[in-house]
Amino acid sequence: KRVAILISGSGSNMVALADSMTGDHPARPVLVLSNVATAGGIAKAQAMGIATAVVEHKPFGRDREAFEAALIETLDAARPDIICLAGFMRILTPTFINHYAGRMLNIHPSLLPKYKGLDTHARAIEAGDDEAGCSVHEVTAELDGGPILGQARVPILPGDTPDDLAARVLPMEHRLYPAVLARFATGDRTPVVLP
Ligand code: GRF
Repeated sequence: KRVAILISGSGSNMVALADSMTGDHPARPVLVLSNVATAGGIAKAQAMGIATAVVEHKPFGRDREAFEAALIETLDAARPDIICLAGFMRILTPTFINHYAGRMLNIHPSLLPKYKGLDTHARAIEAGDDEAGCSVHEVTAELDGGPILGQARVPILPGDTPDDLAARVLPMEHRLYPAVLARFATGDRTPVVLP
């Protein structure tokens, strides 16, 4: 399976995914695409020998459709079987989502369906939750909706700041996303629950 990974920032999840696709793994990374030219993940992907591309959203202004058409053109040139959103910070329209229906995944730093959207860790702390975590889900037209393919949980400790919690969740993301991809790439949609 050919996997394209979309990023907007440091790309730590992209690195974890790319590092996992070795040996007899059924998938290989064929492209890392960013909407931000200066994303740290682009340099990391290049260092790993993975093809990269940048399609900035800014030149398209408010024309989401034109931006997404450019994304699709660049992505489809790499003939991906699976699209992994990994810290990709643009909201995608149903046009884009339908184009990759059933083969696009995203990782979200909360225990969905709780805390869709942004500032997930601050919201969990504010709510007084005693645990937080991350979720990998199939991307559907509903933002951070779609069938959940895996979750990982961490405790929220007294005095935790959002950064403390992010630092505890991120390593779990780096374990969960590769585990979900390895299963998803075989066509198995059974949710992964990390030990
Ligand atoms: C992570 O918290 C991830 O859950 C969210 O984007 C953040 C940065 O991810 N989707 P990365 O380091 O760019 O992979």
